[in-house]
Amino acid sequence: MNVYITKNTEEITRILTQFGETYKEALGYEVGYLNAHLKMDQLGLPLTDAFFEQIYEAAGLIRPSCSVYKNMYDLIRREFNLKRDVVEIGSGIFPLLGHSLREYQLKIGGGTVTVYDSRVWKGYPTKAKLVNRYFNDKIKLEKSSLLVGLFPCEATEMIIKRALKENLDFCIALCGCSHSNDPSLTTREYHGILIEQLMEQVPPEKFLKVKYFPKTCFGNKHNGYPILLVKDKPKVKIFALPSKTR
Ligand SMILES: C[S@@+](CC[C@H](N)C(=O)[O-])C[C@H]1O[C@@H](n2cnc3c(N)ncnc32)[C@H](O)[C@@H]1O
Repeated sequence: MNVYITKNTEEITRILTQFGETYKEALGYEVGYLNAHLKMDQLGLPLTDAFFEQIYEAAGLIRPSCSVYKNMYDLIRREFNLKRDVVEIGSGIFPLLGHSLREYQLKIGGGTVTVYDSRVWKGYPTKAKLVNRYFNDKIKLEKSSLLVGLFPCEATEMIIKRALKENLDFCIALCGCSHSNDPSLTTREYHGILIEQLMEQVPPEKFLKVKYFPKTCFGNKHNGYPILLVKDKPKVKIFALPSKTR
């Protein structure tokens, strides 16, 4: 994954040094790894590590038009009513998406956000509820819960199955891995099969939309991988015709 940063190297180093102090606990042993990488990669160049993308985003270094977090947030906000129970699965260390969705809910005055990931840092300043463990089939959900995941990787199929079983809306950005049992399938082929299966399984009152990130998120080279949305079909309004006047 490429990260596009506008600031110059010195400024980035300054921000990350401060950021590292504030978020030491979250980064933990990874501070050493971070420093080693900073030297190797000469900040300012496109980097290709999801972990770094999270750090850069949390430090406010990524241009919004290039940010998968910001684009995913905008998409979810546009497509779904968020005055409901939103469950983010697979946030990584910093619950960036869940946090921005919760901030939005606070503005509109409704809903909750719960974030599940065994890696999520509980000290992150947010009003979203952070649950420091993996999401699983036994965790209870509301009838109107919306499940969201930004590259939830190995949790992807579990989220889809659970949503279909309980008739829930969801929005998942697929990651670049194939989670198929068939090793000969490429990631794109795997995604194609997943989408075909989903088209057959979506309940009649819902529909599937497949969206993509803008190219700006991926170095203007491609649109990344599909983002799958399942939501209620719009209700058709039936207007009564005016009765004929005599
Ligand atoms: C590729 S990372 C994506 C992290 C973050 N969403 C991002 O885009 O920066 C996938 C994350 O999914 C988490 N994960 C995998 N299975 C999970 C499960 N069953 N419940 C919650 N999180 C899970 C992993 O711990 C990992 O942090």
